[in-house]
Amino acid sequence: MAQRETWTSRIGFIFAAVGSAVGLGNIWSFPFQTASNGGAAFLVVYLAAVFLIGFPTMMIEFVIGRRGESNPVAAFKSIGHGEWSFVGGLGVFSSLVTLAFYSVIGGWVLSYIVGSLSGAYFGDPATYFGSVSTGNVAIAAHAVFMAITIGVVAAGVTGGIERATKFMIPAILILLVGLGAWATTLDGAAAGYEYYLSPDFGVIVDNFASIVPPAMGQAFFTLSLGFSVMIAYASYLGRDDSLPADGGAIVVVNTLVALLAGFVVFPLLFATGGVEGAGGGAGTAFIAIAGAFGTLPAGGILGAVFFVVLLFAALSSAISLLEVPVSFVSENYGYGRTTTAVAMGVGIFLLGVPTTFGTSWLNFYNDVVFNLLLPIAVLLLAVFVGWVANTEAIDEIELGSSFGPSFATGWLWWVRIVVPIAVIVTLYLGVDSLYSGIVAGDYF
Ligand code: TRP
Repeated sequence: MAQRETWTSRIGFIFAAVGSAVGLGNIWSFPFQTASNGGAAFLVVYLAAVFLIGFPTMMIEFVIGRRGESNPVAAFKSIGHGEWSFVGGLGVFSSLVTLAFYSVIGGWVLSYIVGSLSGAYFGDPATYFGSVSTGNVAIAAHAVFMAITIGVVAAGVTGGIERATKFMIPAILILLVGLGAWATTLDGAAAGYEYYLSPDFGVIVDNFASIVPPAMGQAFFTLSLGFSVMIAYASYLGRDDSLPADGGAIVVVNTLVALLAGFVVFPLLFATGGVEGAGGGAGTAFIAIAGAFGTLPAGGILGAVFFVVLLFAALSSAISLLEVPVSFVSENYGYGRTTTAVAMGVGIFLLGVPTTFGTSWLNFYNDVVFNLLLPIAVLLLAVFVGWVANTEAIDEIELGSSFGPSFATGWLWWVRIVVPIAVIVTLYLGVDSLYSGIVAGDYF
């Protein structure tokens, strides 16, 4: 077997993990989920989900990855519990399904960069969305996005991924701060901040059952949890790295990017009529955001900047969504990295094509991942680490960390009890809504 590459530095790992985490989830999905679910009320529940459930879950994947020292399927076996390997496989499968529709949205982003520069969406943003989100334009853009992703992954871990993300993450942060500063000057700024930041706790209490599943799903998705990607990335980590410290840094930077995106999007939406238009799902956010850029002074150029940021974020995530399945297959079956990347990339491309038939197809892929695959994977991971491999887990958490044994014990009990309960509730509500959607014919 070829020798395993490793991260050239601890920072290389953090950048790669942040590159995976920061994506369409932060800059596109987070603002529109917030807009659909009552603004600041959603924000509060989401932040709780990220820090109370997401952060401990990230430690779960890190523990398995560093201890297992191999791809996410073999990792379980090398910890001594080969019968749990299917959990790693489930994550790899979710990555494939996710990338299939993620790349289609990445293609939309490409079209919106073009549309910002040419002014094509200025007059009628809804028609523009219709013309680029379905049919041949969408398929072509999806193909371009996928081709770029394949190219980076084929170039390898240190060559492609570290270099690409080291450039993209700082660029995303700087551009978002700039756009946020511009957004403070908009007429809608005050109303936007108000909606985004001052929670009405009554709304949370009244809508608990409808806010919790999307908040939890969004927390897992944005942190790339349940996809085995953090297992894979942590397998390249050294023994002297502190898992809680690295995980904390990743969670904080990821949250910062999402919050910054809100500081751009909400003033923008309120400058041109409020959130009503943006809350309806996948496409409406594109229509509302593009519509706002289209009517503002210098909107075309600022819109282009916004969509370039979105493209960087989407690409760095797509790279990691493809990297994990590719390195699994090439390590396991001995195919070359480039061959594997191309073959799997083409397969994923084809799997994504149905989601260009219409956004309800895309919503179906999305909801299967969010409501079903993710919570099941996280639940199994929590049970595995909490109850099966718990001694190894404690060991790993303490290794290289300065947090002390009581941190490790507290974490373990949290993973044993609180995480599973939260995920079971989410799973129940999520499956229920997926099932009623299918029965009601919402998808096809
Ligand atoms: N976290 C990414 C985002 O917010 C999406 C994502 C989910 C992802 N799972 C992943 C990216 C696995 C890479 C690997 O957009």
